[in-house]
Amino acid sequence: MTSLTTRRFLQTAGLLIAGLVLSACGKQEPPATTAAAPEASAPAAAPAPAKVYVVGTDAAYAPFESENETGSIVGFDIDVVKAIADKAGIEVKFVNTPWEGIFNTLQQGDRDFLVSAITITEERKQSMEFTDPYFDARQLIAVKQNSKVDAFDDLKKLKVGVQTGTTGDEVVSKLQGKNSTNIKRFESTPLALKELEAGGVDAVVADNGVVTNYVANNPGAKFKSVTDEAFQPEQYGLAVKKGNTELLNTLNKALAEIQADGTYDRIYTQYFGAPPAKPAAAEAPASAASK
Ligand code: ARG
Repeated sequence: MTSLTTRRFLQTAGLLIAGLVLSACGKQEPPATTAAAPEASAPAAAPAPAKVYVVGTDAAYAPFESENETGSIVGFDIDVVKAIADKAGIEVKFVNTPWEGIFNTLQQGDRDFLVSAITITEERKQSMEFTDPYFDARQLIAVKQNSKVDAFDDLKKLKVGVQTGTTGDEVVSKLQGKNSTNIKRFESTPLALKELEAGGVDAVVADNGVVTNYVANNPGAKFKSVTDEAFQPEQYGLAVKKGNTELLNTLNKALAEIQADGTYDRIYTQYFGAPPAKPAAAEAPASAASK
């Protein structure tokens, strides 16, 4: 009888002690209410995935962008953008995008920016934003080796292949008139060059880098290139949706960095055999002796 009471007492005392010990231990832990607070639970949640910038490119323009045997998009432009992304600490994903409509994908937000050997023009600047220029180019004529063409003017009455909506299309449209039936427009530059090989056109006008690359890598086509001083200098830029100043600034900053630290020159040399010609000193001090 008493023994039962004693046992009860001891049990109760034991529970009390256990409770005290537990609560003492508990004081070292943050109170349960704090643990459930959003700030504290955040680290347990999966980190927000980094934004992947979707980069549109018409990958039929070697050596700037093309698809290799395994379907990867490779080229000078691609390496430049990868280097820019590295510097900027952003992730990029290249998506092959037909030239026709490539600028619309920017407007619609399907692409964050474009790299596609895109010439910066006043007209395009109305509807999109360009980074600082990253490449100097001009138009170049491709003809068969036995062709008599030796100047742009010689193309006035000839059948000329161009890629629709390119600056090559623009210059030939100016020479022959926009509606000339002698202008054969193709959805890609390689298609235009194939047509030249097949004899369907007498010449192709496209960016110098692409024509030079094609002539060199397709000896069987028996092409030669013809240059003309009439072609205006062009510059390539990355295109960003109008108003996306934040991305534009990020890209420009990283571009300047890869140009300053030699990364750009290394990529350029890899593709074109030598570093780019240094731009003529833009602001050479006026000679004091000239007056
Ligand atoms: N530079 C020319 C232009 O901007 C041709 C560019 C074509 N690029 C391409 N990836 N197909 O009009």
